[in-house]
Amino acid sequence: MTFNIVVLPGDGIGPEVTDEAVRVLEWFAQHRAIPLHLERRLFGSAAWTAEGSTMPDATWEAILAADALLFGATGSLDQTHIPPEERRKGSLLRIRKGLDVFANLRPVKAQPALAEASPFKARTVAGADLIFVRELTAGVYFGTPRGVETQADGTRRGVNTHSYTEAEIARAARFAFELARTRRGHVTSVDKANVMEAGRLWRDVVSEVHAAGYTDVTLEHMLADNCALQLGRAPTRFDVIVTDNLFGDLLSDCAGAINGSLGMLPSAALSAPDADGRRRALYEPVHGSAPDIAGKGIANPLGAILSAAMLLRWTAKAPAEADRLEKAVEAALASGARTADIAMPGEAVLSTRAMADAVISALEAN
Ligand code: NAI
Ligand code: MG
Repeated sequence: MTFNIVVLPGDGIGPEVTDEAVRVLEWFAQHRAIPLHLERRLFGSAAWTAEGSTMPDATWEAILAADALLFGATGSLDQTHIPPEERRKGSLLRIRKGLDVFANLRPVKAQPALAEASPFKARTVAGADLIFVRELTAGVYFGTPRGVETQADGTRRGVNTHSYTEAEIARAARFAFELARTRRGHVTSVDKANVMEAGRLWRDVVSEVHAAGYTDVTLEHMLADNCALQLGRAPTRFDVIVTDNLFGDLLSDCAGAINGSLGMLPSAALSAPDADGRRRALYEPVHGSAPDIAGKGIANPLGAILSAAMLLRWTAKAPAEADRLEKAVEAALASGARTADIAMPGEAVLSTRAMADAVISALEAN
């Protein structure tokens, strides 16, 4: 069998970092016999410019048929020329919903090479190793009614609806407990049960799922604002953090500070397994299109490359190869490879391409 991977580079630095993740995956196809077929497709603003559609039909069909997507970033500075319905059609939210990838995994692991270099200590936390399970297909980003309406007095009102069903919470909770069993056996569930109704239900359902089948895992509940503080103060206390779509978005960016740069955080979004145990999957770096550095060849490709490692683990079911790639990233950093975002004053700075070369050299050295 071959794993069909649809590559959606997207906007800004998306194509720059995705090219490097593709090169790394091609290395695994060639040297480690991982059966990957990678196919690039235009999407979003890039597709609008080239084809007059943010989501050409052929791309949407390829997305639905793929074993996995490798995604760069979406968001160009100016999308006002694209009609709103086209923006929705080509949105990442539509892809996430269409594939029902409800479990968004965002690991945050301190890189020893950065944590040990003393000038960097202030910016990374040695020993931190945590993973978010962010619920990705419900909550306030999807709730209806939504929109901007004009009220009777002529002033405007913006409306979003934050809603969670029991089933949506339960499947995220089960995913988190299963994952904790493969790690250190600890889950922190994050909500605002003190002020939000959906948050109260979140807390109750997570506790019920825990009691019904996962009492071997320890569970703590934490309010989202306190979690933001604890991520800054004591990130090593966390193992698995399960939370809703909005809090997961914000808190996982906060956690970006733990390992030095947003540019090094990978992610995977996974569906429930089908009858054959296969999950639909979307892999992407956590960062966005970074218009401030796009087109310069200086973006850190490690978030995209570590997302490729997650693809090897979850889609290709090749955990040893995923470990090999994660170790190669560690080795590249240990050898002093630095892009601008993680370099200390006076350190040599590599381009996006050269950083990926350093990772591939480390792969070849093993
Ligand atoms: P961003 O993640 O694009 O950039 C935030 C900061 O981090 C910038 O200073 C940027 O230069 C830096 N940065 C990000 N990735 C980097 C990398 N790989 N190497 C070095 N530095 C890196 O977030 P921002 O600026 O808030 O949003 C820019 C655009 O990206 C917006 O249009 C936003 O909607 C979109 N976005 C898209 C996401 C996605 O595709 N999943 C996620 C987040 C934002
Ligand atoms: Mg975000």
